[in-house]
Amino acid sequence: MSRIAYVNGRYLSLAEARVGVEDRSFQFSDGVYEVAAVMNNRLLDGAAHLARLGRSLRAMAMAAPMGDAALGLVARRLVAANRARDALLYVQVSRGEAKRDHAVPAGVRPTLVMTVRPFDFGARRRAVEGGMAVATMADQRWARPDIKSVSLLPNVLAKEAARTAGAGEAWLVGHDGLVTEGGSTNAWIVDAQGVLRTRAADGAILAGVMRATLMRVAGEIGTAVEERAFTVAQALGAREAFLTSTTNPCVPVVRIDGAAVADGVPGPVSRQLSEALWGEIARQTGWVG
Ligand code: PDD
Repeated sequence: MSRIAYVNGRYLSLAEARVGVEDRSFQFSDGVYEVAAVMNNRLLDGAAHLARLGRSLRAMAMAAPMGDAALGLVARRLVAANRARDALLYVQVSRGEAKRDHAVPAGVRPTLVMTVRPFDFGARRRAVEGGMAVATMADQRWARPDIKSVSLLPNVLAKEAARTAGAGEAWLVGHDGLVTEGGSTNAWIVDAQGVLRTRAADGAILAGVMRATLMRVAGEIGTAVEERAFTVAQALGAREAFLTSTTNPCVPVVRIDGAAVADGVPGPVSRQLSEALWGEIARQTGWVG
């Protein structure tokens, strides 16, 4: 079945879906986006994704293309039209199409694109068994990675360099030696003292929706989380490490730059948190695999 996309009020086959060459997202990466999981035909953490989209739009002083209720309606219609039980929903809002000029044009209408792509969450759940290797890279992003903008070039290049190094994700490291986050995930450790840590949403990271969900779930099972950044050396000396995102809900990190984290296999805390998180996913969406 051909995939259906939504572009500015129209539902089109993906092959026909187009945005103009004067779109500011193409010309200046002047746009924001969200990626949300559709599991068992239901949106996971839909309200949190909508809230973050609103935050990104406000941070860019961009107009919302429509109200939250209408966005939710279009998203649900598109999911239904694509008949994908398990999928990723991409929502992209650009400032709009206008004659190329750095200065933000007045009265431009935002461009809204939504696409849905089937996604195998079962494979991501099974990834918990083997874990993932990461490679550290300098964080070369702009100073506002807290905004979920489509300006992803440094993330793309870091992830590609990680892939070349045989790793599944890049861990980005700031000038101060502290890990910010992954190329498209948030970073966590269980440090040498046994404290579960992830960097605070201090402006240097994207506040991941899965990060927030995991923090909540951790609290529910009595595991305290400390929002405190860590160095690569601390991650290498940690008892456990893992990452979170919509596409990798909770995946253990077993090697960093080729060196094993502890004994190089997923640890008990990551496993327990992962189980609790998949339990929360099942509670919200009914997804059981
Ligand atoms: N990436 N950090 C960055 C830089 C990200 O791009 C993402 C998400 C995350 C995790 O956020 P969340 O838990 O809300 O998915 C952290 C999405 C999935 C992507 O661009 O594909």
